[in-house]
Amino acid sequence: MVKAVVLGAAGGIGQPLSLLLKCNPLITELSLYDIVNTPGVAADLSHIATPAKVAGFLPPDEGLAKALTGAQVVIIPAGVPRKPGMTRDDLFKINAGIVEGLATGIATTAPKAFVLVISNPVNSTVPIVVEVFKKHNVFDPKRIFGVTTLDVVRASTFVAEIVGDLSKAPDVVVPVVGGHSGVTIVPLLSQSSHPLPSGFSEEKLDALVNRIQFGGDEVVKAKDGAGSATLSMAYAGAEFALKVVNALEGQKGIIAPSFVHLSADPAGGEALKKEIGADLEYFSAPVELGPDGVVKINPLGKITDAEKKLVEAAVPDLTKNIQTGIAFTKKSN
Ligand code: NAD
Ligand code: LMR
Repeated sequence: MVKAVVLGAAGGIGQPLSLLLKCNPLITELSLYDIVNTPGVAADLSHIATPAKVAGFLPPDEGLAKALTGAQVVIIPAGVPRKPGMTRDDLFKINAGIVEGLATGIATTAPKAFVLVISNPVNSTVPIVVEVFKKHNVFDPKRIFGVTTLDVVRASTFVAEIVGDLSKAPDVVVPVVGGHSGVTIVPLLSQSSHPLPSGFSEEKLDALVNRIQFGGDEVVKAKDGAGSATLSMAYAGAEFALKVVNALEGQKGIIAPSFVHLSADPAGGEALKKEIGADLEYFSAPVELGPDGVVKINPLGKITDAEKKLVEAAVPDLTKNIQTGIAFTKKSN
């Protein structure tokens, strides 16, 4: 019996994500909240012959609180997407306020829910959610996640393409760590479950790393002003949500990279911080999930010198992005 809530459910990601959640038999209640169109989306999805009872909510009339009551998993794809020429940081001005408002609703109505943040820039919006939860004295680092799964999904697909067999894509596992924008996205290709072909040149490896780091731009460019990744993001968001739901239901040993507050780790993420060589508050790392959220954050393990340089290069942007999120909540207090 799991109640999932999508905030921003009528959008480009929200609709296909809600569809995939409705298809998950473990979800028995699905609430859809947006500032527009959720009654229609909910009515449409409610005709699908799967267990979840679907309802749509709008503001005002406490729509957000009604949607969130009793929620165990809340997924946030609310906010504006990029257009060509924009960075994810350019979205901050609008999305920071949207995420802050929604986080306040969760902190007051469903403070124990697992919160999965998709809205960009993730490196800054996750700290906003955390600061709002702290302000309401309900912060539990084990339950707040930045969704970086799309980077992992892209890495699997691109490696399978290079290996020359797309049918292997679902089985390819490549940890992608750091954060979710440009150089903060660090694929650890040396740990790929499916090694790259022998003789794969350094130039080709650099190009592959760059494609994973800037995969979002590839989609933004191709959509030519009509937004950013929605369908692949819905797939990735549903995949991560499914892992969280399975962990909630007692399945053991589930590990997925996610952007988390490092205090979620019982040892404070000290091993990871040592590897990174910086005292960061947040990092996307392979996280072990359990019924209460993060069980532990795994260290990066053995990585190449080139990957160490990528981690090093990610730190300045990550530090800045995290500070931007924290500073926003202090200003708006
Ligand atoms: P979209 O514009 O198609 O949909 C956004 C939805 O949010 C709209 O339906 C809008 O009405 C709704 N919304 C706006 N303000 C709201 C509020 N206060 N409360 C509830 N709903 C609200 O955009 P999209 O393509 O679905 O992208 C959404 C966000 O996800 C963007 O910020 C985008 O950058 C981000 N994104 C993140 C990843 C990732 O990997 N984490 C991947 C793709 C997109
Ligand atoms: C992505 O990686 O596709 C998303 O973060 C959307 C974007 O702006 O690129």
